[in-house]
Amino acid sequence: MTKVLVATVKPFAAAAVNGIREVVEGAGYEMALLEKYANQQDFIDAASDADAVIIRSDKADADVFASAKNMKIIVRAGAGYDNVDLEAASSKDIVVMNTPGQNSNAVAELALGMMVYMARNQFNGSSGSELKGKKLGIHAYGHVGKLVANIAKGFGMKCYAFDPFIKKEDIEKDGVTALDTVEELYSQCQYISLHIPANEKTKASINSKLMSLMPAGATLVNTARKEVICEDSLLKTFAERPDFIYISDIAPDNKEEIAEKYEGRFFFTPKKMGAQTSEANINAGIAAAEQIKAFLEHGDRTFQVNK
Ligand code: 3PG
Repeated sequence: MTKVLVATVKPFAAAAVNGIREVVEGAGYEMALLEKYANQQDFIDAASDADAVIIRSDKADADVFASAKNMKIIVRAGAGYDNVDLEAASSKDIVVMNTPGQNSNAVAELALGMMVYMARNQFNGSSGSELKGKKLGIHAYGHVGKLVANIAKGFGMKCYAFDPFIKKEDIEKDGVTALDTVEELYSQCQYISLHIPANEKTKASINSKLMSLMPAGATLVNTARKEVICEDSLLKTFAERPDFIYISDIAPDNKEEIAEKYEGRFFFTPKKMGAQTSEANINAGIAAAEQIKAFLEHGDRTFQVNK
């Protein structure tokens, strides 16, 4: 019987697991569930006889693909697939997909929620500031960036975006000002919200040069990946600019040093929280299961990322 493994260190909400099971078993496949596993070897062992796999930020590396003799497809239930070794998967003819857009609203809501939290001094009783009238720079205008703009407009923020891969007119029809350069975005906007993927070009690309361009009251919001931030630049900017605030969905590696010196000027989630809603889990998890079914039944390769 065709076996679909759901392997999640950070489990989906129960309703999402039920939804995935309905799709998988409805298609006549068997479902295996591996949650909160402590060792990578547990994932490798569980994947060894699976035909298809659903993961979140779980590490799908060459060792996983080497042991998974039956695997035909792996779907990252979510947007970023920097946790999957695409080359290793391709070398075994394994199709890799993501589920773009399915968990974007949860991430966008978190970005705005964290902005309010820090603008109000972490609700510590002191007088804070408002988002209304502030300029928000959206760095990359994909699914999440677009939703961030929509919510931010509700707060009365003025939205700007930089995305060299999206036509300016497509950005501007959302009432968002499209800028030509990343430098313009950082120099015009007090708030910057990051929505770039983590890849060889973007890793450590958010550096002190960009951070120093931001106007007074600079707040950098990272719901993308911690790897896109240059951590030395982060420390330098904290030291040079007493107005600088950094908010991130999961902490940078140098969080102890930041916590020691810059209390009240940062907020880090304890684990990656962007997509941690039952709605996002249901949307992304069920989409992943449906994509597996469509691929196994009709060879549908929509959303394949290792072409
Ligand atoms: C994504 O890339 O979709 C988000 O970062 C969510 O990741 P998660 O599924 O590990 O919460």
